[in-house]
Amino acid sequence: MRVLTNINSLNQLLESSRNSNKSIGFVPTMGALHEGHLSLVKLAQKDCDVVVCSIFINPTQFNDSNDLENYPITIEEDIKLLEEQSCDILFQPNVTEMYPEGLNTKQYLLNGIDKVLEGRKRPGHFDGVCTIVHRLFSIVRPQIAYFGEKDFQQVAVIRQMINSLSLPIKIKTGKTIRENDGLAKSSRNALLSTTQRKKATYVYASLQKIKSLFSKVDCAQLKEMIKNDINQVQDMRLDYVEIVNPYNFKPLQGQADNDEAIAVMAVFLGKVRLIDNLSLND
Ligand code: PAJ
Repeated sequence: MRVLTNINSLNQLLESSRNSNKSIGFVPTMGALHEGHLSLVKLAQKDCDVVVCSIFINPTQFNDSNDLENYPITIEEDIKLLEEQSCDILFQPNVTEMYPEGLNTKQYLLNGIDKVLEGRKRPGHFDGVCTIVHRLFSIVRPQIAYFGEKDFQQVAVIRQMINSLSLPIKIKTGKTIRENDGLAKSSRNALLSTTQRKKATYVYASLQKIKSLFSKVDCAQLKEMIKNDINQVQDMRLDYVEIVNPYNFKPLQGQADNDEAIAVMAVFLGKVRLIDNLSLND
């Protein structure tokens, strides 16, 4: 695997692939890699001739400086995992390379889907995500880019950005990879204490509870039930739970089991924020 930190050398390396019409698949990440990330690399390898993974902790998408400061960094382990997975190229730029003009974000036309749920709780987050993903897209110029369903709203926001800018890039998604007890793999899981890690299983358990009761109980009652469950757990706080339409993110009301629906939630365990989602239809 080639590990590159600057844009010019990445371009030189990719030029020959582009000239020989090789397809480029791209997996952007913030590192502290786990099987969720690697599953996306595997998907890319099935479709594309050359797979580029990027690791860049993007400061502009963190609305909480504590979260940015504590974000796990395991670069040596990451390189080992990507090498074992036979990833072709790791692009690992620094902040000046990605933000030569300072840490500013751009505004994108996102149809308001960036203003609800994660966007409402983390103001500016999706501007930061779009700014960095757009910049990475313009550097790597992949035919296909891969994102995880774990960050369901992020996928929708990036699709919307691609549409509004008419970028010639296809998005493919990978299923959420979970630990044996159901907890969605996440770089932030490493920040949980042993006790918090045990409690973290309530997140997926809550989503499953919503799914099992979805045909019997109305949405408002379901959300209230989960709120009570979560807030009873010491050191755990519900940031939000919603049952929404998976395309426009509008909250569903009443008895909605005939509608397309996804349950989404975010919780704090101490200072660590975890998100997860579950489709209520399949
Ligand atoms: P990061 O959190 O590192 O995630 C990188 C990619 O891995 C995202 O597409 C995310 O949805 C996916 N992913 C994370 N956990 C997963 C899991 N358990 N199963 C499947 N896929 C999973 O998301 C970001 O970084 C950043 O916002 C980024 C897009 C890189 C922009 O900075």
